[in-house]
Amino acid sequence: MLRENSHRVLVPVASVLTAVTFPLFGFSLTMTWISVKQARQADSIGKSVEVRGWVRTRRDSKGGFSFIEVNDGSCFGNLQIVADGSLPNYQSEISSLTVGSSVKVAGEIKESQGKGQSTEMVAASVQITGLASATDYPLQKKQHTFEKLREWAHLRPRTNTFGAVTRVRNQLSFATHQFFQQDGFVYVHTPLITASDCEGAGQMFRVTTLPLDKLPMVNGKVDNTKDFFAKPSYLTVSGQLEGEAYATALGKIYTFGPTFRAENSNTSRHLSEFWMIEPEMAFFELADNMTLAERYLKFMIKSVFDYCHEDMEFFEQRIQPGLLQALTLVLEKPFTHLSYTEAIDILLASGEKFEFPVAWGVDLQAEHERYITEKHVNGPVILYNYPKEIKSFYMRINDDGKTVAAMDVLVPGVGEIIGGSQREERLDVLTERMIQSGLNPDDYWWYLDLRRFGTVPHAGFGLGLERMVQYTTGMANIRDVIPFPRTPGNCEF
Ligand code: 4AD
Ligand code: MG
Repeated sequence: MLRENSHRVLVPVASVLTAVTFPLFGFSLTMTWISVKQARQADSIGKSVEVRGWVRTRRDSKGGFSFIEVNDGSCFGNLQIVADGSLPNYQSEISSLTVGSSVKVAGEIKESQGKGQSTEMVAASVQITGLASATDYPLQKKQHTFEKLREWAHLRPRTNTFGAVTRVRNQLSFATHQFFQQDGFVYVHTPLITASDCEGAGQMFRVTTLPLDKLPMVNGKVDNTKDFFAKPSYLTVSGQLEGEAYATALGKIYTFGPTFRAENSNTSRHLSEFWMIEPEMAFFELADNMTLAERYLKFMIKSVFDYCHEDMEFFEQRIQPGLLQALTLVLEKPFTHLSYTEAIDILLASGEKFEFPVAWGVDLQAEHERYITEKHVNGPVILYNYPKEIKSFYMRINDDGKTVAAMDVLVPGVGEIIGGSQREERLDVLTERMIQSGLNPDDYWWYLDLRRFGTVPHAGFGLGLERMVQYTTGMANIRDVIPFPRTPGNCEF
């Protein structure tokens, strides 16, 4: 199913003459360019091929040849190249080849004599495409802290850790589409610029073309009719509201895109720009929503186990020992379900000293969530039926009048990974709730129309992709699982 990108490359005669040592008769020779991943597989043994990538290390042997480790990002491991002293550019170039340089290497794949790899390439030619200065290239052999590597976010994908994180993130994204497509969901692209605040939390980035040094004013206030969209508009915090419009027509939909929150949180779990997957399903109630969330999370973990084996071994050994066993357990056991009220009782009975005191009605803090998922359950837990005061206006009010049909999925090490709910489908109840939440129902006229015309019970949730990457890799800081993190005060690159 996953196929390598392999294509044939025409090598011009001139370079082939220096590149390849077998006889030529004046016509061009085709040389297949394969990935390092393919070259490392035993079925490549005996093939004459080319690989292209970046030098990770070079070791020179007293016997007059060098070992060059090349990585091209296709997999965790490098391909070992054996470059013999008889190569025409050995003295002039190869013997001083620096870490970080880009190369094209042609040669035969052989069974490796050394430990730790099954194949190696005996080079027939080593062509240097770009040198990296030994004194200026920041990623030399020595280990750098993740904090330091954030300053080189443009180069860190060339390290083992960030290569592995990026491939796992890719696999989770691919698995997301696979899971929902197999289940009959339709992928919907909801807008990034919006005038509605989905979470009603007022944490939106304003989008404007008004001149900030000379704002148009009317009656002492900014004249928003002069702005690009003739009204205040923002970067979206969630595609849910628009997603509901499509779910109440196509049945089961999902969105998968970037979302933006101007929240001044400097934690290891918050970004100002993050990617969210939001399924929304007509005729689903809270229990159906929970079942779907559990199946989806398990599907993604299994997919990463199946396709990112080498990367996951690295995370187990170098980032979080015990990771693989913990994730395997997740696959094997059903998720624990607890109502918010039960969770409060557990916290009160725990005897723990929390920084934020616990009482029925409080919003759960990270320390509370972590106690429940790490100490009490030691695995994923779905908390449901939260007090309506601490949740968004669109969540369905339960018959008790006090709680809403909300669900949060919490996991060890991360805390909240999914937030979702059954939606309020009753026009009068929703309108009333909006007013109580300080929202103007007129601003949400189209959202209310979904309740006016053929309303249905429906539900959905949002998964933060970065938190899922953290969970599957054990990476402690969310800034290290997105290519170029945006956080308060940081927008480099
Ligand atoms: O719980 P949240 O705010 O829910 C919503 O946005 C709903 N509209 C989703 C829905 O029902 N369709 O966010 C959902 C998830 C969180 O559980 C968390 O994983 C992630 O998005 N998230 C963040 N991830 C990184 N940085 C932030 N600042 C995040 N805020 C939320
Ligand atoms: Mg939430």
